[in-house]
Amino acid sequence: MSVDLSPIDKAKFVAAKKAAEFVQDGMRVGLGTGSTAAWMVRCVGEMVREQGLRIKGVPTSTRTAELAREVGIDVVSLDEAKWLDLTIDGADEFDGELNLIKGGGGALLQEKIVATASDQMIVIADAAKEVETLGAFPLPIEVIPFGWQTSKALVEEMLISMDVLGQQSSLRMDGDAPFVTDEGNHILDLHLKRIGKVRELALVLNQVPGVVENGLFIDICDKVVIGFGDGRVEMRDIHEGLTSEEQVQFLETDNLFRDLDGE
Ligand code: 5RP
Repeated sequence: MSVDLSPIDKAKFVAAKKAAEFVQDGMRVGLGTGSTAAWMVRCVGEMVREQGLRIKGVPTSTRTAELAREVGIDVVSLDEAKWLDLTIDGADEFDGELNLIKGGGGALLQEKIVATASDQMIVIADAAKEVETLGAFPLPIEVIPFGWQTSKALVEEMLISMDVLGQQSSLRMDGDAPFVTDEGNHILDLHLKRIGKVRELALVLNQVPGVVENGLFIDICDKVVIGFGDGRVEMRDIHEGLTSEEQVQFLETDNLFRDLDGE
């Protein structure tokens, strides 16, 4: 195999590959967004093409929808699927209780709706995403464009009374223009440094007019598959703790890497 992945990409790939094993014939599956989730979509696509796996995939962004179709997954909307057996997605941070910060890729709104409408959510992440306390990664919140500066000011004022270390926020940019989500909204990144009470913050943020949703995923994730640069994966379950450790092989995935040639 000629593909030379960096240790971080290997970690993402092995986590994605392991999580794809949880996808079974007939399932309705939520497909996350981001670089780790993209590996998972490719792995599931390979299972569809080479093993005849039949699933319906519900993407969490237009870019995941494009990739899913490209690799052969039958894509349906959440309203068509109604309820999902499983969602697999990446995360920006996860803590010991499997609470998450998500939205680094700007897809937190669809990601939260899809994960919440699933029997099970599995997060795939490289080991660097694990933290003791959430908040070093800027917390994304989705705000509607109308009056976003007022929403920003209200959020910052509200943060003063919250158990966080920082209160600054910044409008996410895409080059010279504000970043626009699939729903036509903007993202504010909150530089909180440390979030003391995640549940409280998640609830209070959504009370600010103009805020559509925040990137704190509390009590949504059931399992985390953690990948390491040497090909090891570790699985943590919300009920059972550490459930397994194993080595994922790369060689059997030649076809999948061939698919990536020319991307
Ligand atoms: C997108 C997300 C992603 O899952 C998160 O940003 C992780 O991305 P990556 O796998 O590229 O590190 O929440 O909105």
